Parts: sequence; C-alpha cells; structure tokens
Amino acid sequence: MDKRPLMLDVDTGVDDAAAIALAIGLNPHLVAISTVAGNVPIDASTENTRRVLSLLGREDVPVYRGASRPLTATYHDAAHVHGSNGLGGVELPPATTTEGDCTGPEAIVRMAERYAGELTLITVGPLTNLAIALSLRPGITLQIARLVIMGGAYFHPGNITPFSEFNLYVDPDAAGQVFNAEWDDITAIGLDVTHQTALTRNMWEAIPEDATGAAGLVRAISERTCAERARSGFFLHDPLAVAVALDSSLITGQRHAVTMDLQGDTRGQSNVTGVGNVLVATEVRADVFVRRFCEALNLPYV
Ligand code: BDR
Ligand code: CA
Repeated sequence: MDKRPLMLDVDTGVDDAAAIALAIGLNPHLVAISTVAGNVPIDASTENTRRVLSLLGREDVPVYRGASRPLTATYHDAAHVHGSNGLGGVELPPATTTEGDCTGPEAIVRMAERYAGELTLITVGPLTNLAIALSLRPGITLQIARLVIMGGAYFHPGNITPFSEFNLYVDPDAAGQVFNAEWDDITAIGLDVTHQTALTRNMWEAIPEDATGAAGLVRAISERTCAERARSGFFLHDPLAVAVALDSSLITGQRHAVTMDLQGDTRGQSNVTGVGNVLVATEVRADVFVRRFCEALNLPYV
C-alpha cells in the first residue's frame, strides 16, 4: 500500500465520509482535507468533514474551507441522495478544533509545494477548488505526484442527467480546466467502475447495532438509505477513488484525453477523445476492493 502523503478534496456526503474513514484506515499519512460545495453547501460540507475526523480521532488533520459555488454554473446540491445535512440526517458530535488558516484552493497549493513530488491528491467532489488552485499556481501539476479524480461517466450513462455524473455536472467548467492541465499521473474513477461497487443492505444489516468508530459511523449514516429509503445499498464512489489512489492494481483502464461538454442538454458530460494523459478506469477488481474496504473500516464482509 502506498504510504506517501495524501490530501483529500471532499463535499462530505455519505460516501465522502466513508472515503475519509478508508483513507485513515489505509494510510494514516493524511496531511490535509479541503472542502467544496457539492453534495451539500460549503458550511455543511466543512462541518461534516470536521465532525467525521473528530469521531475517527483525527482532529489533527487540518480542514480547509473551499469554494462555496461553482466557477460559473448555478449550484445544485444532492441532499435528495445524502439527506438534508449530507450525513443521512445523523447529527454527529461537534469537532473541537478550528478550521484551517487558508482557503481550500490555497491549501492545495500549500500541500503541493510542501510535499512536492510526493503528494497524492484525491478529489471526490466538484473540481472547483482544484481549478482555482491551478489558476493560482499552474505549476502544481509538476508538484502533485498523483491525482485521482472521482468523477465522470465515460462509457456509461450519468447519474444526475442521462449524460452526466454528479461531481463533473456541478462544475463542468472546473472539470474542463483540470482535465486540460498537464498532469504527470492522473486517473479518472467514473461511474463505469464505481457502479460495480456497493455497500449492500445485507452488509449494512450485518454491522452490529453497537458498533463504534468507523463501523458505527457507516452504520449510522447509511441507515436512511438502507432502512428508511429501503435501497439495496449505496455505491462506494468516493471510497473506490481512495483505494485506487493507494493501490492502482485495483483497476485497469485506457489512456485518453478527456473533454467536457459545456452547453445544452449534455452539459457536464465527460468525453474521451483519442490518446491522452488521463487513465480512465474501465474495469475494477470489485470483490478485492470491497473486502479491503470492510477490513479497513472493521465492517463484517458478507
Ligand atoms: C459522486 O457524487 C456524490 O454524490 C458522491 O459523493 C460522489 O462523489 C458520485 O457521482
Ligand atoms: Ca463526493
């Protein structure tokens, strides 16, 4: 498992919370988290992130509040999926520490410089913060060793429109700028692979009611989906991006250039064109990943 310094950019969210828990479980060298408006507005995104870290005993990880709205688009949240507060309506105890001393995009620049040549950046929300960071310091593309993006639907239908995946739909302009930049090592984890992974209702039911820590967190925040909404489970979009960032053998893919549709009905659609520098994931070893997810979060694997 890769133990290089890690930074996450999140819009916490149920599966973002699970991704934070997985990152901590697999690689304790989590150096910072930036937040962005996505699943929930920026206040809730930031507060949820701080509370999740606090519950997991990692208030030492600084949380930097990022962009409150997309670059140009009108902001849309996903409270219909993640519950009104983003954590399935679960009220976690407040965190005790203060927020980081700069904005999310500035924190990305700071961590890229501090850990130049080593940093793995994983984005699991709209790409607004990273686009702003690139605008502030284009040279971070040379400093960030590895970029893994949860976003896009490449050979697969969308989940927010028939064409678009939620994270890229919320801020397609930002996504276009990010995919246009010259990264050394960039991987796109889209619905093509995340829709092959799930925490099923059976798995959720097997988590003991008195579970604590990461398992207790997942049980609580998934209850709305698994019990109240009677869904068969939820996709592990964001945890898969974390797992792949730490072990790229979990996926295989194709190298393409990625472009974004910015107009009309297909706005937010991610397209692959020819050969390029983005490794677009097309296959995933889903069983290996789900087992690893369960082990790291102390969940029963059923
Ligand atoms: C993405 O959208 C959000 O709702 C999830 O947290 C994930 O990052 C999946 O389309
Ligand atoms: Ca997310």
